[in-house]
Amino acid sequence: MERLQKIIAQSGFCSRRKAEEYIQKGLVTVNGQKVTQLGLKFNYDDQIMIDGHCLENKEEKEYYLLYKPRGVVTTVSDEFNRPKVVDFIPTKTRIYPVGRLDYDTTGLLLLTNDGELTNILTHPSNKIEKIYTAKVKGIISSEEFMKIKKGLKIDNRLVKVTYLKIKKIDKVKETTTISIGIMEGRNHIVKRLFKSLNHEVLKLKRETLAFLNLQGLKSGEYRSLSIKEVKKLYALK
Ligand code: URA
Repeated sequence: MERLQKIIAQSGFCSRRKAEEYIQKGLVTVNGQKVTQLGLKFNYDDQIMIDGHCLENKEEKEYYLLYKPRGVVTTVSDEFNRPKVVDFIPTKTRIYPVGRLDYDTTGLLLLTNDGELTNILTHPSNKIEKIYTAKVKGIISSEEFMKIKKGLKIDNRLVKVTYLKIKKIDKVKETTTISIGIMEGRNHIVKRLFKSLNHEVLKLKRETLAFLNLQGLKSGEYRSLSIKEVKKLYALK
């Protein structure tokens, strides 16, 4: 179930704000019933009509896996005119990123116009593992390693760590490179986790999302997902 204006916007028909306008003006019906109240939730396969247009004429779904470079924003528009993740994918379809990576974070990012799949992949109840490589300031001690592994609380909520491995310790530069797997998508969560132990994250890269990885791609490159991969992502629900 999802809010009606979100289903409409995610179908590519119009923006969410415009969808709200259509709803409030009484131009939207769901399964033949007029809906004028904002915030009501429906299913993606409900029959939605907007001003005589059937939302069944949905755009073809597109699915891309991008190796996001550093210095790129994970949005579809940016007020400061910085490079955006959508600039890397030449499509006329209104695609958007699934979740977000920080401006200075690199690595695996999915982009699609499939709202239903986006919801599956970003909903906290569907535990989707993401593995990151983080280069942090300072040497991570074995006590700190165990603390992270057992689970630290950020904003009073435990960050469950599914995978943790030290990859490199640079004693001269005093940095640690560590792989960390987590099943959540709170903003800046990896940086905040290490910050809570006084280790600033200097570099961060998302290596995997569920069974997907960056194999075969260089920074800035992308590929389409196969139907098999899309089905496998749906099955994570
Ligand atoms: N955690 C972060 O701190 N930043 C990201 O970009 C992704 C996860």
